[in-house]
Amino acid sequence: MDILNALPPHDPESRDGVPIWTPPGGPPQTDRIPAAVYETMGEEQITRFFHAFYSRLGRSSIAHMFPKSEKNLMRAADKSAAMFVFLFGGPHLYQQRYGRPMMRARHLPFVIDEPARQEWLRCYRETLDEAPEKYKMPTEHVDAVWKFVVDFSGWMVNAETQSNGES
Ligand code: HEM
Repeated sequence: MDILNALPPHDPESRDGVPIWTPPGGPPQTDRIPAAVYETMGEEQITRFFHAFYSRLGRSSIAHMFPKSEKNLMRAADKSAAMFVFLFGGPHLYQQRYGRPMMRARHLPFVIDEPARQEWLRCYRETLDEAPEKYKMPTEHVDAVWKFVVDFSGWMVNAETQSNGES
C-alpha cells in the first residue's frame, strides 16, 4: 500500500535530538476495511467522526502534539478524515488534496512512543464506540476498523518510550 511508504532520512535535530526508532517488524500487513463502511457513512459522517476524535485528542495527554486553536485542530481532523475516506473504501481524497500519503514519514517530526500510541488509540476507541449510533458506522465492521488502526498505529511509533524526565 502506498500509505506505508517510508521517507528519506530525517534530520534528528528537528525533533529535539530524540533518535528515530523503527519498529522491527516493518510495515504491518493490514487487512482492508470493507467498503461498506464508506458506502454507509459517506464523507460527511466520516468527517464528523474525525472532528469528535480530534476533540478528544485535543483534551488528551498527547494534546501538545496537535494544533492549539479549535480552527486548526479541526483542519487537522479534516486531513485525517480525507485519509480515512480512502481507508474506509472511498475515493483517495487525501492523495488528491495533499499529495503522497507517506504516513510514517509525515509523523516523523512528532515524537511518538508506545504510550503516545496507546493514548491515541484510547481516543480512537472512545469515538469508535459511539460511531454506529452517532456516525452511521455499520456495527458489524467496527472490529475491522479497530484492527486496522491498532495494526497501523504500531508503524507510526518512531521513538523508544521516553522517560518522564527523571534521571
Ligand atoms: C500512533 C498513534 C498516532 C499518533 C500519536 C498520531 C499523531 C499525529 C499528529 C501529531 C499529526 C499532526 C497533526 C497536525 O496536522 O498538526 C498527525 C497527522 C496525521 N495522522 Fe496521525 N497519529 C497516529 C496514528 C495515525 C494513524 C494510524 C493514521 C492512519 C492512517 C494517521 C493518520 C494521520 C494523517 C492522515 C495525518 C495528516 C498528515 C498530514 O497531512 O500532515 N495517524 N498524526
